[in-house]
Amino acid sequence: MQSPAPDAPILFFDSGLGGLTVLGPTRALLPTAPIVYAADYAGLPYGQKSEDELAARVPALLGRLVERYQPRLAVIACNTASTIALAHVRAALDLPIVGTVPAIKPAAKLTKSGVIGVLGTEATVRQPYVDDLSARFADGKTVLRHGSPGLVTGAEAKLRGEPVDPAVIARAIAGLRDQPGGDAIDVIVLACTHFPLLADELQTAAGPGVKLIDGADGIARRIADLTKGQPWPAVATPGLAVFTRSAERPPPPLATLAPYGIDRIETI
Ligand code: DGL
Repeated sequence: MQSPAPDAPILFFDSGLGGLTVLGPTRALLPTAPIVYAADYAGLPYGQKSEDELAARVPALLGRLVERYQPRLAVIACNTASTIALAHVRAALDLPIVGTVPAIKPAAKLTKSGVIGVLGTEATVRQPYVDDLSARFADGKTVLRHGSPGLVTGAEAKLRGEPVDPAVIARAIAGLRDQPGGDAIDVIVLACTHFPLLADELQTAAGPGVKLIDGADGIARRIADLTKGQPWPAVATPGLAVFTRSAERPPPPLATLAPYGIDRIETI
């Protein structure tokens, strides 16, 4: 494959700000990589959309973004979009696509009790993709799942500096623990990219005997691997954030995104 131009960006895509939890560790590995971070605020929350809707919406939107920003690689930094639409996106677009799928494999290696919790969106936890990951990598273990839309709202609020309702956190943990066998959970997979933004709150509610894991570091390593040997700018270029236009949800203040190396916001 021809080498990309040094200024060809990596495109990150999520319904909202959750994908920043994947951008963070990627920036640490590739500090000068040009970044376009795209959030589909007009479609948030994905977790409450149907499979058909997402299987059509995500490839179409990514197609527009790829045409506009000409990235060298695209990262679907969203478990909901990845578990539903990754194959559709790969079929539709001619560039490397990295997906984000629940970290069930590392969780199965970590658990001592043999009971793993998976906390995702409602759409993610019902996916056959999750059945498949559990059958392949957590054979003989119990995988309990719970979908929490409240955590998505809570994570968006927290990043904007607004308070997070403690009842939402408690309900999310109870949604796993209150299932039969749930009190033996010793590893919880954060299977939505928004949820690591609430890791401290979730850890406090789950207690010290539970380990929380997510896939962000592994995805960052995969991105670095796939772009190995490619040219990058000599110094870091400020990133761009793109939001699909939503009447109810304006883009966040730039200060929210600045810690992730973003200094410009566009609305499309
Ligand atoms: N951040 C997304 C995920 O990883 C979903 C949030 C939503 O739009 O419901 O699943």
